[in-house]
Amino acid sequence: MKNLLKLLALFTVAGFLVTACEGPMGPAGKDANETCTQCHNSGGVDSVKTMYAFSKHEYGEAAFEESGNTGCTPCHAQEAFKYVVKNKVPVAFVGTTVNGVTTYSNPYATVASSSIGEFGCSTCHANLHTTFSDADFMPLTTTAAVAMTFNGGAKTIDLTQKGGESNLCVKCHQPRPFTRTFGDKNVIDYAALVSSPTAVFFDGNNPTSTANVNTIRPSYRTHTHYGTAGAVFAGKGGVEFGTGYTNSWHTTGASCQDCHMAPMTGRTGGHSFFAKGNFIGCNVTGCHSAAPISSATTTAYWAATRTEIKGLLDQLATKLRIGGVDILNRNPNATEGFLLNVDANKDGALEPYSVGVNLWAGLTTNNYDGYLNIYDPATNPTGIYYNATMFQNPSPSSSWTSGQTAFNLTLPKITLTNAQFGALINFQLCLRDYSLGIHNTKYTRTLLTNSIAAI
Ligand code: HEC
Ligand code: HEC
Ligand code: HEC
Ligand code: HEC
Ligand code: HEC
Repeated sequence: MKNLLKLLALFTVAGFLVTACEGPMGPAGKDANETCTQCHNSGGVDSVKTMYAFSKHEYGEAAFEESGNTGCTPCHAQEAFKYVVKNKVPVAFVGTTVNGVTTYSNPYATVASSSIGEFGCSTCHANLHTTFSDADFMPLTTTAAVAMTFNGGAKTIDLTQKGGESNLCVKCHQPRPFTRTFGDKNVIDYAALVSSPTAVFFDGNNPTSTANVNTIRPSYRTHTHYGTAGAVFAGKGGVEFGTGYTNSWHTTGASCQDCHMAPMTGRTGGHSFFAKGNFIGCNVTGCHSAAPISSATTTAYWAATRTEIKGLLDQLATKLRIGGVDILNRNPNATEGFLLNVDANKDGALEPYSVGVNLWAGLTTNNYDGYLNIYDPATNPTGIYYNATMFQNPSPSSSWTSGQTAFNLTLPKITLTNAQFGALINFQLCLRDYSLGIHNTKYTRTLLTNSIAAI
């Protein structure tokens, strides 16, 4: 990145010299072309584009899939992201009172007209083509502190190192809120999961009970969402049972860019944004240069840490079993196109069913994917727990066949205590963080250890 910068600076200077020598010319003249080629050359923008082709921001399909959805696109589409940044869209849930009854909703959304756009250079560099100099690349679209949508803004992440550049990533790479099924539909009270650990959070035998307002009727996809890395890195957002929470040095010392945009090697680093297999960032002076981490077999700070955290995830998953049956969903499928023969229609015949991809395959011994092991005819036909959302209004069961409804009624019902639900959230946070403790070893270790002790 440094070399590229120098290169760009060089071209900028060359551009000015040409202008100075030839005097003022119209924008359509030779100067305009010179200005363009400062950046549009094989060493400049073109080379970054080559790296960026390896970024999931570029080749991932989330922008296509979520396009038009105003609640999803703030993190999944370029124009929506720029909209929420520019308009400083708040994350605190908004209450509306009708006939004395207050109901909350999540305001973190864009408008329909800007809920589109694949991620590109101007997602993060919002000022391109303004001054036509390399100053256009900085500042980034945002480096401001990020109020967490996960808890409606009750906590804020502010990673100030390196000019706050990590906050750009965290704005999207953060978990999403769990909202109450009943009552005011606000974000659940995470603190209550800790302060009243033995209270029943959800009673599967009584799924329409409103005795506990602070509840969620769980389904297969009751989860923290996928991008939890920013929260775990910052040491914020866990359901903190017990005491002893501290952060590793990375939280205040390293930036996302240090590891994810280290010099490109293979298909990692630079504008690919992948850290996987790239150890260059680890070993710069002032970090691990004295005892370099050279590969995934290096014990200190890598293999030992990851083995330990994997072990804690395994232990917590084992505790999250009722009568020996997993609450957490298993999925060994790491790649697209994996077909399973199941009776998805519940008509007695087997159909080939495509099991979803599990980005986290291999991170735990049983390949948990962070979803729950709850039956859903469309998304989880192999789920083994009773799906209580069929009592929802409007009922999702209206799309089910009578065979599917009857099958669901034969399944065991799930009952969760506050502590179990909190521990589930912590499992999802630490699994989906993906790094097995590398982002923030101390916080991850304490969160998992205390969760294991709490249930
Ligand atoms: C400071 C660097 C810089 C300068 C100077 C610059 N550009 Fe760009 N330009 C970019 C970047 C970065 C992009 C986004 C790369 C992309 O998506 O292809 C871009 C994109 C473009 C695109 C869209 C390419 C596409 O495939 O969608 C066009 C056309 C373009 N520039 C033309 C120009 C012209 C004409 C000039 C000179 C008047 C110019 N640029 C000067 C940085 C620059
Ligand atoms: C505008 C929102 C947004 C910003 C800003 C953003 N990301 Fe992402 N990132 C995403 C989304 C969404 C995906 C998944 C894309 C898909 O699957 O289509 C993703 C994917 C990734 C992946 C690949 C994850 C995987 O599944 O293997 C990495 C690594 C990553 N981002 C790192 C970063 C870093 C580092 C930054 C900051 C420099 C950053 N991102 C900034 C939204 C964002
Ligand atoms: C607060 C930001 C944010 C919001 C809002 C958000 N997402 Fe995401 N989503 C992400 C990030 C970041 C990732 C990538 C995480 C990774 O791969 O490490 C992601 C990943 C995904 C993926 C997985 C993509 C893959 O590579 O497999 C799907 C599917 C998805 N999101 C759907 C949605 C839907 C549907 C909504 C709206 C209901 C939504 N997202 C809202 C941030 C968000
Ligand atoms: C997900 C966010 C993101 C996207 C998308 C992105 N960049 Fe960047 N870019 C960054 C960050 C962050 C830095 C600062 C890196 C650092 O500090 O090491 C950067 C730095 C740069 C620089 C060095 C400029 C400087 O002054 O340091 C250039 C040039 C650049 N990007 C070009 C591009 C081009 C061209 C594209 C599209 C092909 C692109 N970027 C897409 C986040 C992004
Ligand atoms: C100290 C280095 C380091 C820092 C700093 C860091 N990461 Fe990571 N990150 C990693 C490692 C290592 C992995 C796991 C790669 C693997 O599985 O081999 C990872 C994994 C990820 C992934 C999953 C996809 C991937 O690259 O394999 C995302 C997304 C991610 N980090 C986002 C972030 C964000 C956002 C920040 C800043 C808040 C951040 N990271 C800071 C080292 C780092």
